[in-house]
Amino acid sequence: MSRSVPAPEPVVPRSVAVIMDGNGRWARRAGLERIRGHERGIDAVRTTVTECARLGVEALTLYAFSEENWQRPQREIDLLFKLLQRFLVEERPTLMQNRVRLLHAGRRERLPPPVLALIDETVALTRDNAGMQLCLAISYGGRQELVDAMRSLARRVASGELSPGQIGEATIRGALYQPGVPDPDLLIRTAGEQRLSNFLLWQISYAEIHVSDVCWPEFGREQLEAAFRDYGRRVRKFGKVL
Ligand code: IPE
Ligand code: IPE
Ligand code: MG
Repeated sequence: MSRSVPAPEPVVPRSVAVIMDGNGRWARRAGLERIRGHERGIDAVRTTVTECARLGVEALTLYAFSEENWQRPQREIDLLFKLLQRFLVEERPTLMQNRVRLLHAGRRERLPPPVLALIDETVALTRDNAGMQLCLAISYGGRQELVDAMRSLARRVASGELSPGQIGEATIRGALYQPGVPDPDLLIRTAGEQRLSNFLLWQISYAEIHVSDVCWPEFGREQLEAAFRDYGRRVRKFGKVL
């Protein structure tokens, strides 16, 4: 009789969030400019989106540009937004085919108007798609999201619409950027880093964390399956005794 433990079956989480990291390192290792890594990262985005949609993930949140990323060189920022614009145009047929609904999480103020216009157009175009929700976190910070939520709740209290005693978890969730996206069950971060980098601070409170050693441009179906297999191994107790 074999004593080997069978590999766990992959389990598809309802909601997945990804910190897509390591584009720059991938490029540097290949002797290329950082931006080439961002370009290659688009292929990994396409694979991850279509594969998650195919497998029945309900919501996928991708960290594409953080509040802190505004501190990068302007040239890199410009190229990143150029790539984002290209993605939003070129991927529309794929989003429609896979019935993916696009959403944006983040502050709108600093985004260049053409980028905002494309985001809004794609959100409107995909509004009635009943498949996976694809939430792009762009100009996003978890702390900033909480600041914005607290401001909007404070305004409602000041206007008399809401009393402080009525503020609870559901009210706070309702004031976040995308309250309809379920809390991530699984958070994936690539390039071996073990930190949150200001991502989804409220929503992540009970997510399982999977760190993949590959850089984002190398993240494909095999790595996604490994993440879902790892997720399948987790015992989620939510504080209770099972
Ligand atoms: C992730 O890759 C992409 C963004 C943050 C926009 P990085 O650009 O952070 O790559 P590394 O971490 O420098 O390798
Ligand atoms: C986090 O990656 C932000 C995104 C993936 C968009 P960073 O590379 O910017 O984060 P740090 O600098 O490692 O914390
Ligand atoms: Mg990085």
